[in-house]
Amino acid sequence: MIEEIKQAGQRALEEIENAQNAEQVEQLRVKYLGRKGIFKDLMGRMAGLSADEKPLAGKLANETRQAVEQKLKAKAAEFAASQPKPVKEVFDITIPGQRPAFGRLHPITRATNELVEIFARLGFEVVYGPEMETAFHNFDALNIPDEHPARDDFDTFFIKDDILLRSHTSPVQVRTMLERKPPLRVVAPGKVFRRDTPDASHYPVFHQIEGLAVDENITLADLKDVLDKAMKTFFGPDTRTRMRPSFFPFTEPSAEVDISCTFCRGKGCPACQGKGWTELLGAGMVDPNVFKAVGIDSEKYTGFAFGMGIDRAAMYRFGITDIRLLFDNDLRLLNQL
Ligand code: PHE
Repeated sequence: MIEEIKQAGQRALEEIENAQNAEQVEQLRVKYLGRKGIFKDLMGRMAGLSADEKPLAGKLANETRQAVEQKLKAKAAEFAASQPKPVKEVFDITIPGQRPAFGRLHPITRATNELVEIFARLGFEVVYGPEMETAFHNFDALNIPDEHPARDDFDTFFIKDDILLRSHTSPVQVRTMLERKPPLRVVAPGKVFRRDTPDASHYPVFHQIEGLAVDENITLADLKDVLDKAMKTFFGPDTRTRMRPSFFPFTEPSAEVDISCTFCRGKGCPACQGKGWTELLGAGMVDPNVFKAVGIDSEKYTGFAFGMGIDRAAMYRFGITDIRLLFDNDLRLLNQL
């Protein structure tokens, strides 16, 4: 009997070990531990054993049964764990992917970034000023007092008597000089506003980049050199620049700076009205009255300033002939650039 129990136990353990799936484990449970199973039969037959054999056989049978039970549990758990999880989502990996619609930088943003980088390489740092300005920063400190006819040239949007949308980036010169001491070399890009009726070359919102350098011994030659280098880098190495005498209240002397036409390279074409040159910047040497307004000693320091139309630069650079196209947000145009 003892031998029979041992053999049954061993066989049970072996068979459970070799079970291939949860179903087989269950069949083995029924076979060994079920109501009509092998262990039930063994227990039943123990009644016929002698008094000294009975406890020994009973103990062994119980222990074996427990071992078999444990083995069954372990094996069942093993199969449960390896069971694949139910698939909730089914992907069809053969469907072509959807391309995300990548945006791109607007030509004005690209031109601004490039110009800022070019001037940065020439030693200028970037500063910003508010789009809503005081009349003091936009006019008075720039040597354009109240009643001065030059105020009319700027077609300003006034919000209140002395609050306005800046009509140029030159007020950033004033802010910079009020905040810091020379030597200064800054550029200030941003939006400016004028009461213009939109046409091919005018728009009530446009962009400028202001430049300002203040130090001892700054001359007009420095201005000419910086602008020439910057324009050659931005428009191409064969670009030429020229200065024509002009007037701005905040510079003395003042100049309009032209670049050789980017379409005809200076030969003369419809884009430059046959002139071979296009006007791109206002510039000059900082007027002593401006230094006075911001508390800089004009006997010790000199400086140059310039203001360039970014929209116009972008148009020449990318071959756009109507400024309104830059603001229409028509992807057919923007996707080409
Ligand atoms: N602020 C002037 C304009 O908008 C341009 C300019 C800037 C001229 C700096 C001279 C010096 O027309």
